Amino acid sequence: MIETQLDQATSFKRRGRKTLAEITDPVSGPLKDFRSFYKQALRTDVFFLDKIVQYLLRQKGKEIRPTLVFMSARLFGEVSDRSYVAATMIELLHTATLIHDDVVDEADTRRGFLSINKIWRNKAGVLLGDFLLSKGLLIALDNDEFKLLKVLSKAVKSMSEGELRQFKAASLFNMTEEYYFKVISEKTASLIAACCECGAISTSDDPEIHQKMHDIGMCVGTAFQIRDDLFDYGIDDVGKPRRNDIKERKVTLPLIKALENASFVERTRIRYLMRKRKKKDKEIEDIVTFVHEKGGIGYARSIMEEYAENAIEKLSTLPPSEDRKAFKDLIQFIVKRKR
Ligand code: IPE
Ligand code: IPE
Ligand code: MG
Ligand code: MG
Repeated sequence: MIETQLDQATSFKRRGRKTLAEITDPVSGPLKDFRSFYKQALRTDVFFLDKIVQYLLRQKGKEIRPTLVFMSARLFGEVSDRSYVAATMIELLHTATLIHDDVVDEADTRRGFLSINKIWRNKAGVLLGDFLLSKGLLIALDNDEFKLLKVLSKAVKSMSEGELRQFKAASLFNMTEEYYFKVISEKTASLIAACCECGAISTSDDPEIHQKMHDIGMCVGTAFQIRDDLFDYGIDDVGKPRRNDIKERKVTLPLIKALENASFVERTRIRYLMRKRKKKDKEIEDIVTFVHEKGGIGYARSIMEEYAENAIEKLSTLPPSEDRKAFKDLIQFIVKRKR
């Protein structure tokens, strides 16, 4: 049921595009096996922890990261045990950061359900996130996968730096485009790059290939976060709170550009509204309208497309194959997705 709903939400078949399920069909076997590894990894004897874990397992994400691992792996060989280790680790690390992120962002919902911090409060969110994070890193050690551990530990460090940098920017209030790209490269693109790199590591020994897949992942990940930041200014249900970036004083690309395009008087007014900790609904919608009217949305979309195109261009230097085609479809899905 949840899967069907998710697929409907992520579908753009009406416009002749493939659904996520269709795009991921070549890796549907590995994804199925991955789900049981993931479930297995979350087993715990601690009763209270298990209760929250069971709740967590009912919420399904899009599984974009494990999909990227398997698709990257298939560009250079057959999905291997290493690919599964990488996919499982990465989804655990990703989910851990989402749980922590919802505490930081004071978000009430996630993946269409109430967030962990909303139900069990912040303390449980912090502890559960730590549990998932440590489990994720331990999987590498249990399997003697030091190379994967190195790549992923670096990504985790980068993600924390990105979240901290963003947190600091909210109070500084001098967000520039350059700073924004630094934040999203660290907090989101670094893990997506690690997906592509680890997938390649699992089926190729060529360091040049690893680097190339990392670079492709950085572009895909940047486009991915811009798409996510656009959701905040949209009207569709995305399974998590909208307007939360505005409430939390998070300045993202659409707003940065809109402010740049505005007159001094308008800019001062919107900055004043943004700075407010408790914004009225009317004030929030004022900011949204401003961003739409000042071309912030169109601009962010065009930059997002550029990153996706750049990723596709880099991808096209690899030998043509059905797998390369599927990878390209996935990149296009990421920038068109509805969730
Ligand atoms: C959300 O990631 C966090 C961001 C980096 C924007 P996803 O959109 O991949 O989340 P799930 O796993 O599908 O819920
Ligand atoms: C991505 O940023 C967070 C992480 C990389 C963990 P957001 O704060 O925009 O993610 P969502 O919108 O809550 O999923
Ligand atoms: Mg968030
Ligand atoms: Mg977001």
